Amino acid sequence: MASRVVFPCFPVSILLVLLLSSSAANAQLSTNFYARTCPRLEIIVRNAMIQAVRRETRIAASILRLFFHDCFVNGCDASILLDDTPTFTGEKNALPNQNSVRGFEVIDAIKANVESACNATVSCADILALATRVGVVLLGGPSWQVPLGRRDARTASLSAANSQIPPPFANLTALISSFASKGLNTRDLTALSGAHTIGLARCTTFRGHIYNDTNIDPTFAATRRANCPVSGGDNNLAPLDIQTPTRFNNDYYRNLLVRRGLLHSDQELFNGGSQDSLVRTYATNPIAFANDFAAAMVRMGNISPLTGTNGEIRRNCRVVN
Ligand code: HEM
Repeated sequence: MASRVVFPCFPVSILLVLLLSSSAANAQLSTNFYARTCPRLEIIVRNAMIQAVRRETRIAASILRLFFHDCFVNGCDASILLDDTPTFTGEKNALPNQNSVRGFEVIDAIKANVESACNATVSCADILALATRVGVVLLGGPSWQVPLGRRDARTASLSAANSQIPPPFANLTALISSFASKGLNTRDLTALSGAHTIGLARCTTFRGHIYNDTNIDPTFAATRRANCPVSGGDNNLAPLDIQTPTRFNNDYYRNLLVRRGLLHSDQELFNGGSQDSLVRTYATNPIAFANDFAAAMVRMGNISPLTGTNGEIRRNCRVVN
């Protein structure tokens, strides 16, 4: 009799434990995650970003890119913020990041303010997600509700950063499969690429396009060649959007229609392939772009977050606790 009572309890309790632990591992992010524990969080992030953008408009673009490079490497877990040490190899010196990603000091400043208001509560990954949204809005772009509750990685991966962030010489097929491998579809790819409506790129990233490609407006190529020689000048900068590099608008797509994409990968989105019609839509319908960009940012921000008891809340975004 006893075994009849006790025995059936086993599977039930195991089931319960499994259910509880799986829901902790897959816990959903939520927009009100810090509503009680850090109610001033969004105001703190916003104020610091207003200051940072006032100092340098480009910083909004740099932080948006930081978020992309964080999310594409083992999820949005702030792994990109970790410094290298003699015993720890981070992602900052990966090929797509070295001498390229920037904005770490701004995240440090925001984190310091957040720690003063509510210590050991808010992850660096969430701070980056919020700062990104504020930066986009400050430059005139769309807003969106940022799901929160990510935790910070205790590891980073140089090799994943080298292999999983798409390079500027990628063709459309490679771009599509890179995004697909992160659960993002072709619409997400084309909408998120509109981030290149702001910010700058180094000569080394677009040299091949302006000298070797034929799907480029000759006048535009000549303009860019003037400050990006065949050899040397690797770090010379040019705007990704030649029209309005500090305004978050749909000019990126209008440029693509007249073959003025700066990167080879940009022009791949409008080169007789599957994304042509969507590029035309975004070029003529800024609202459609704004809506799709915002929705795609939420989806990118949902890539494999650490939640529940996974990871940690880093005290200093540059080092694991
Ligand atoms: C589709 C594949 C993509 C490729 C191949 C790509 C490549 C690049 C490259 C090569 C640069 C210039 C880096 C340098 O000069 O060192 C750049 C800049 C930038 N990227 Fe992308 N990118 C892609 C998608 C994205 C996405 C999805 C976002 C954000 C949602 C983004 C945001 C930015 C921003 C804002 C900048 C300017 C950063 C600054 O001025 O500091 N990119 N990208």
